[in-house]
Amino acid sequence: MTKPRLWITRRLSDATLERAARDYDVVINHGDLPGTADEIIAASAEYDAIIPCHSEHFSADVVAQFSDRLKIVANHSVGVDHCDLPALKARGIAVTNTPDVLSDATAEIAMLLMLGAARLAVSGDRIVRSGAWDSWSPAFMVGKQVTGARLGIIGMGRVGRAFAAKARGFEMEIHYFNRTPLSQEQAHGAIYHDSIESVLAVSDFLSLHCPATPETTNLMNADRFAMLPEGAVVVNTARGALVDEDALLDALKSGRLAAAGLDCFKAEPGGNPAFAAHDTIFMLPHIGSATRQTRDAMGFRALDNLDAFFSGKTPGDLL
Ligand code: DGY
Repeated sequence: MTKPRLWITRRLSDATLERAARDYDVVINHGDLPGTADEIIAASAEYDAIIPCHSEHFSADVVAQFSDRLKIVANHSVGVDHCDLPALKARGIAVTNTPDVLSDATAEIAMLLMLGAARLAVSGDRIVRSGAWDSWSPAFMVGKQVTGARLGIIGMGRVGRAFAAKARGFEMEIHYFNRTPLSQEQAHGAIYHDSIESVLAVSDFLSLHCPATPETTNLMNADRFAMLPEGAVVVNTARGALVDEDALLDALKSGRLAAAGLDCFKAEPGGNPAFAAHDTIFMLPHIGSATRQTRDAMGFRALDNLDAFFSGKTPGDLL
């Protein structure tokens, strides 16, 4: 039996690439640059399947130019905001993602950002590294304590819950907004709010864990930043689209926000150059899921979805 033709758009983990090469007639983009619209359109004529990352954009315009060969887009990501799902579905193309396997890694980065932002990690690192550390005083670099503080979580899906589990280790009082309340077993005492506004009012720390959709674009805007307690800390490991970045800067300048921890930006790669002047913003380059273990698990999950599809079963993560 001939193997399905598969295009892997980026340099996935070695274990993933080995398994893909064993089971598929695979072409790997070893150059590891994001696939362009033209490359994706051309691939739709040459391949039965694509494993893309969130760096490849399947917009309605791109999908409209597809040939008929492509049958499945098995994303190597949990987020699928880079895919126009209705357009792909209308072409009869199956789409899958990789939930679950990256929740802990992403929650770790959210914790790192929360602690780093609260405890002034950027200026602390800078002052030691630059040799400018020439005195000490009890008034020096006084941050905001995480232990026992109130944490608001917007979006209590898998990553939100993994983050809540880690935050419980810091004895945080957890409040959350989600489309539906969690069961008691899943909530572990976290307090449900039926509106975002109500969570904001009690969030000394706020962490965003919802998908980027038209409804959540600029979810954190000027009005909502103003609803946070004075001196709050905001963490975003979900998507840059959720935050109005000008409003975030204004909130920092006004003192409404003490600090922010960001792994995601409106413009990626690159981020927001206006943030660079602010040591109160602790930034990372979208590496929430970047651990060896998680990269293998994401790759294998994408391949599991492909295997199911090509053996006539419904992929576990079919969207
Ligand atoms: C995801 O899986 O959505 C992460 O942001 C990495 O792409």
